[in-house]
Amino acid sequence: MEEQLSLEFLRVVENGAIAAARTMGFGDRHKADEVAVEAMRKTMDQVEMDGTIVIGEGERDEAPMLYIGEKVGLATHAPKALFPTVDIAVDPLEGTNLCATGAPNAIAVLAASEKGGLLHAPDLYMEKIIVGPSCKGAVDLDAPVADNLKAVAKRLDRDVEDLVVMVLDRPRHEKMIEQIRTVGARIRLIGDGDLSAGISAAVIGTGVHMVMGTGGAPEGVLTAAALRCLNGQILARLVISKPQDAERLARMGVKDTKRIYATEDLAPGKKIIFACTGVTDGNLLKGVRFFGEGIRTSSMILTLDERQVRFVDSVRLEKRPDLKVRFN
Ligand code: FBP
Repeated sequence: MEEQLSLEFLRVVENGAIAAARTMGFGDRHKADEVAVEAMRKTMDQVEMDGTIVIGEGERDEAPMLYIGEKVGLATHAPKALFPTVDIAVDPLEGTNLCATGAPNAIAVLAASEKGGLLHAPDLYMEKIIVGPSCKGAVDLDAPVADNLKAVAKRLDRDVEDLVVMVLDRPRHEKMIEQIRTVGARIRLIGDGDLSAGISAAVIGTGVHMVMGTGGAPEGVLTAAALRCLNGQILARLVISKPQDAERLARMGVKDTKRIYATEDLAPGKKIIFACTGVTDGNLLKGVRFFGEGIRTSSMILTLDERQVRFVDSVRLEKRPDLKVRFN
């Protein structure tokens, strides 16, 4: 499944990113998301698969496209054909505000697995702690902030003062930010995008050592899919902030609402594909560049079973007689 579909999914995220990038800086986050959704949905329908959206734009009555439970792929047009059954999680534009303001790290994202390989997480918040391969097993969601920072510093063979922790800039994180500052670690506060932050934490050389704080649960599942392929770790727990959240979890059959989910619980698949394309320039990927003769995109495709990490730089050339390809 992985080899066959990964290049198809690359096209899906590239098209989502290109559509969103056209709206960069327009100040319209809904429009940016809408065009990314449309582009991804359209491209996805040409993929030879029998796909089901398990994480998407919302419930069926909330989202016209890429809603949870929606069937996608060529199988929707040719129901008798034999295509692989695939569960799909999408975030067509992770960081809608980032794109709307032209800020860094907006990405278009898709993860896929065999049926049941991605947790059907509700659209609630999730407490998260994310680290890379060297720090797997060193952190604990319930440990004091100082203990986690010291454990990560020890594994990375450096002082706590040398660490960079990414945290969403939200009032709910004030106390945690204070605790990180007290221990002396450095912080990169981000306006949005704890998914791209989580991927960065698992890749050496990005200058990010850890992500802490509360963000979306769907983003948590997508992060876990990437981390399975990158050998990183996420620990996460759903946050119940109002009675309706608890009712919703009960309806979904979630009994243990305080459960700490490990990477493999969020993305248990044996065959996982994770694909993302930069919309705006970021830590790992460049944003979409439009130039006279074409469009250049920068993407990452990860496959779990084949253990492949591909950084893909694509140039789509206009059909012009005078076209030129630039090296950089
Ligand atoms: P969007 O892609 O929907 O704009 O969300 C971005 C994001 O920052 C996520 O990365 C993060 O998990 C979540 O929103 C945090 O939610 P909130 O903005 O409500 O704090």
